[in-house]
Amino acid sequence: MRKKTVRDVDVKDRRVIVRCDFNVPLDDGGNITDDTRIVASLATVNYLCEQGARVILMSHLGRPKGVFDKRFSLAPVARRLGELLGKEVSMTEDAVGENTRNKVAGLRPGDVLLLENLRFHREETENAPDFARELARMADVYVNDAFGTAHRAHASTAGIAGYIPAVAGFLVEKELQVMGEAVTNPKRPFTAILGGAKVSDKIGVISSLIDRVDNLLIGGGMMFTFLKAKNLDIGKSLLEEDKIPLAVELMDRAEAKGIKFVLPVDVVVAEALDNQAPHHTTAVDNIPPEYIGVDIGGETSGIFSDIIRKSSTVIWNGPMGVFEMPNYAKGTEAIARAMAECTGTTIVGGGDSAAAVKQLGYSGSMTHVSTGGGAALEFLEGKELPGIAALLDADR
Ligand code: 3PG
Repeated sequence: MRKKTVRDVDVKDRRVIVRCDFNVPLDDGGNITDDTRIVASLATVNYLCEQGARVILMSHLGRPKGVFDKRFSLAPVARRLGELLGKEVSMTEDAVGENTRNKVAGLRPGDVLLLENLRFHREETENAPDFARELARMADVYVNDAFGTAHRAHASTAGIAGYIPAVAGFLVEKELQVMGEAVTNPKRPFTAILGGAKVSDKIGVISSLIDRVDNLLIGGGMMFTFLKAKNLDIGKSLLEEDKIPLAVELMDRAEAKGIKFVLPVDVVVAEALDNQAPHHTTAVDNIPPEYIGVDIGGETSGIFSDIIRKSSTVIWNGPMGVFEMPNYAKGTEAIARAMAECTGTTIVGGGDSAAAVKQLGYSGSMTHVSTGGGAALEFLEGKELPGIAALLDADR
């Protein structure tokens, strides 16, 4: 169902409260190490300022558990956003309360105010009606542009929409449009590459994509549960024993549907989970008992890359190996490169794979890199996201 967007409401002179996902990584000194999510909010914020709205931004940062904790203050975000917008972004000391309401009352058209971290109040994650109403009372219109938090039913993502007109921002609109189009109406061949540590995290997405894709390529820690399900010895590699029957079922379903379910033919194995540990590449039917699988091998990278380059739509979620350790990052790098070379639609479904693509400098070569980790996964699983469901339908 298409949702109303900021284009569909009159915002001139009005107080517009925008939920962003400014949950950005910070180093020990409180410096932002990746501002992608702040940059991604600019289209909506700039538009609202140009239209003469009084802009109130709100977000969470980290998981401070309902109490004030300076380490989770949004102050660094306000500074970075101000630099990017080229104008002052003032901040409140609290997301709600009298001082905050006074600051909102003082906003002029085109001004931007950022509320302090919503999760300093536990009512935010509890989706408490009083808290949602208090946020809503400060504004005339609500915009949800926090795609990364759309899978949470919180006061600022879902509850607030019950009190004032609620529409999508440009980032949410783009995420839904690009990923929605890819899964419902893909140009074929359509390939999904799924990685990451655990099968249990990816069951929903594998299950949903099996009905849609032509090729499903499996890497990451979860590949070992599938290899084990094929009766191969996997040494000390990550195994979710209780998921073996499910792995068999998924592979049978893929076969029955006639889709290519591609498992690695070779893997990198190491003596320990350590970048410096002795390691080598081996065929999947020759994994030594004492070794741990840490990446897909070179032959597998070649096979996967070939399929990716020949695809017209590619979706990728989850690294191929222990990407944080440079010796085991080659499989992930190869996938990122092949996607950058693919001339079809290429979508990176958030989280670790998005961070990998960014680190390798390939973000600009992808059709779309989602700003959502868990949200992108749930969307690809076909689940309804509470933060989206709460918005006004386009035909109303
Ligand atoms: C994310 O980084 O995935 C979102 O900001 C959601 O954060 P949360 O998992 O703490 O709700």
